[in-house]
Amino acid sequence: MPDQDPVSAFCALKGQRKIVCLTAYTAPMAATLDPHCDLMLVGDSLAMVVYGMDNTRNIDLDTMIRHGKAVMRGQETAVVVIDLPAGSYENSPQQALVNAHRVIDETGAHGVKLEGGVAMQAHVQAITGAGIPVMGHVGLLPQHAASVKQFRITGKTNAEATQLTRDCKALVEAGVFSIVMEGIIEPVASTIAASCPVPSIGIGASPNCDGQILVTEDMLGMFDAYIPKFVQKFATLQPDITAAALAYQQAVISEDFPKPDHLYYLEDKKKT
Ligand code: KIV
Repeated sequence: MPDQDPVSAFCALKGQRKIVCLTAYTAPMAATLDPHCDLMLVGDSLAMVVYGMDNTRNIDLDTMIRHGKAVMRGQETAVVVIDLPAGSYENSPQQALVNAHRVIDETGAHGVKLEGGVAMQAHVQAITGAGIPVMGHVGLLPQHAASVKQFRITGKTNAEATQLTRDCKALVEAGVFSIVMEGIIEPVASTIAASCPVPSIGIGASPNCDGQILVTEDMLGMFDAYIPKFVQKFATLQPDITAAALAYQQAVISEDFPKPDHLYYLEDKKKT
C-alpha cells in the first residue's frame, strides 16, 4: 500500500490526538522543531519577528519563498505550509493560483495558507482545484491590521459569530485541508471547532480546536516586543541571550577569549 501523503496523514490526526503546529522561518529552527511538530508554518509573522516590521503587510512573495526554501532544507516529516503574503492573492482567483504555484514549485512545500473566509472562497477554490493544499485562516486577520494595536479579537457579537461560521463553511466548501482560528472568543470558537470537518488549529482560540499553533519565538520567550494574552512561554531565551552576549563582551574585552585551545597550530591534526 502506498504511504499516505503528508497532508492526508496530518488530517488523519483529527480526533486521534491534538495536533502540534509551530512557525519556522529558518533551516536550523525547522530541523530542531520538525521531530516535535505535525506542521511547520512559514508564517508572514516573519515580517515582524525577523524583519522588525510593524505589521505583516509588507513582506513580499520572494521573501516568503526564500524562507520557505530554508525551512524545507530543515524539514523531514512535518507538513510545511507557507503563507501567501498580503497583496499576492486577494486581487483575483487567478493571481492566487499563479502565486500559490510559484510557492509550491519553488520551495517544494506541502501547502499554502491565506487569510479570509467567504471573500476568499473563489481564490481558495482556484488553488485547491489545481491540487495545491490550502490552509484557511479566520478570525483575527493580521494582514488587515496596520499594527498590533489594530488586532481585534472576534466573535463578540452574534453578527461576528455568524460571519465566522459562514467563513469556515465557505473555506471547507472550497476544499481547505485545515483552518487556523485566531483570536476568537469562547464559546464561539469551541462551537465552530466542534462542527468543523477539517482540522481546526487554534491560536488565541479554543482548547477544543483539533490542534494549536504558536509563533515559535513567542513560545521560546525570544520576542518580547508584543506578547499576546494567548502566548505561553515554554522557555525564556531572551534573558539567556542577553546574559550570553554580556559574558562574551566581557571575555573579549578582558582578553579571556579566545584561549590557547581555540587557536590553530602547525602541528594540529584536525583541520577545523
Ligand atoms: O503568520 C503567522 O505566523 C500565522 C500564525 C500565527 C497562525 O499566521
